[in-house]
Amino acid sequence: MADLFEPVTVGKWTLNNRIVMAPMTRNRATPDGVPTDLMATYYGQRATAGLIITEGVQPSTVGQGYMNSPGMHTPAQTAAWRTVADAVHQHGGRIVAQIMHAGRISHPDNKHHAETVAPSAIAAPGEMFTATGLQPHPTPRALGTDEIPSVIDEYAHAARAAVDAGLDGIELHAANGYLLHQFLAPNTNQRTDSYGGTPEARARFVIEAAQAVSDAIGSERVGIRISPGINLHGAIEDDADDTAATYRTLVDALSAMGLAYLHTIGDPTTPLIEDLSHRFAGLRIVSNGWDPVTDAAIAQALLDNDQADLVAVGRAFIANPDLVQRWQTQAPLNQPDVNTFYGGDHRGYTDYPSV
Ligand SMILES: Cc1cc2nc3c(=O)[nH]c(=O)nc-3n(C[C@H](O)[C@H](O)[C@H](O)COP(=O)(O)O)c2cc1C
Repeated sequence: MADLFEPVTVGKWTLNNRIVMAPMTRNRATPDGVPTDLMATYYGQRATAGLIITEGVQPSTVGQGYMNSPGMHTPAQTAAWRTVADAVHQHGGRIVAQIMHAGRISHPDNKHHAETVAPSAIAAPGEMFTATGLQPHPTPRALGTDEIPSVIDEYAHAARAAVDAGLDGIELHAANGYLLHQFLAPNTNQRTDSYGGTPEARARFVIEAAQAVSDAIGSERVGIRISPGINLHGAIEDDADDTAATYRTLVDALSAMGLAYLHTIGDPTTPLIEDLSHRFAGLRIVSNGWDPVTDAAIAQALLDNDQADLVAVGRAFIANPDLVQRWQTQAPLNQPDVNTFYGGDHRGYTDYPSV
């Protein structure tokens, strides 16, 4: 039976342990999406994780959702990512960038007034945090069929830029209601071209994006995150047969591509996630979901029950830069301050103490 603290080989990487720092948006980049030295310090502090998955990183200005999230599409951004990658590698860690095009979960005020695009011109429910407060999500412009290759190219460019900047690879963010997930879910994808209308057609955009990033950097440097049936940010998958058909098409294609890992969010005992994780030939990273907060016992049980090969841990890593050592020695844990999760300075970011 696997132990959380034992090394594992995933794709191209040999990891020191099976504890993965989950992707977490922290909104500490510059308004131009350039990673800061503070971010390099933050990730460097957490380099004893087996693998760090960065916060969501936009592959284009249009793809930015939240204020002060980092990008991977300008020379200044990629130069600064090198500083982050170096900080993690100096401490013996591994880091991949989570490439996240937000699609309709966005606002022009957060991205120099760039437009918002999505599979279909359907606004997301709810509001988006902007510099002037909460504002409704805008109605996105539906991508034309002829534009799709250029959006897929943005993913490939970002993947290449990440590896050129010294990161170890990328994770495609196909979860939580952002652009890739908006193609998968029937209520956000009402397209009548070959990217919509059936489960197979709705899976197509994600498959093509995964193929493009694999062609760019090698599939063994690519992972993907999915959240089937989690229904976040208005991407609703409430028809069980349709959801299963969509994700089976997707995961079978990803498996054949030889991706490094499949990262699922949600209860791994749900029949669909269980089925998908068995269909996938590579390794499985599991995030148990938002409730309860992942702790050491939950994480080890995921391995013991053969539900995961590695476990993604979010909030405990925010508050404990040396989480791996603390879990290993059963040391007391710092508690995270939710008020400093999204944006701000070093407080609640790089000032949590190690033991
Ligand atoms: C502050 C914060 C930001 C997050 N940002 C992202 C993100 O950028 N991409 C993503 O896929 N998930 C994101 N998540 C979800 C986490 O990756 C993780 O799945 C979730 O926190 C549950 O794990 P936990 O119980 O260990 O915290 C975020 C969670 C938190 C708390």
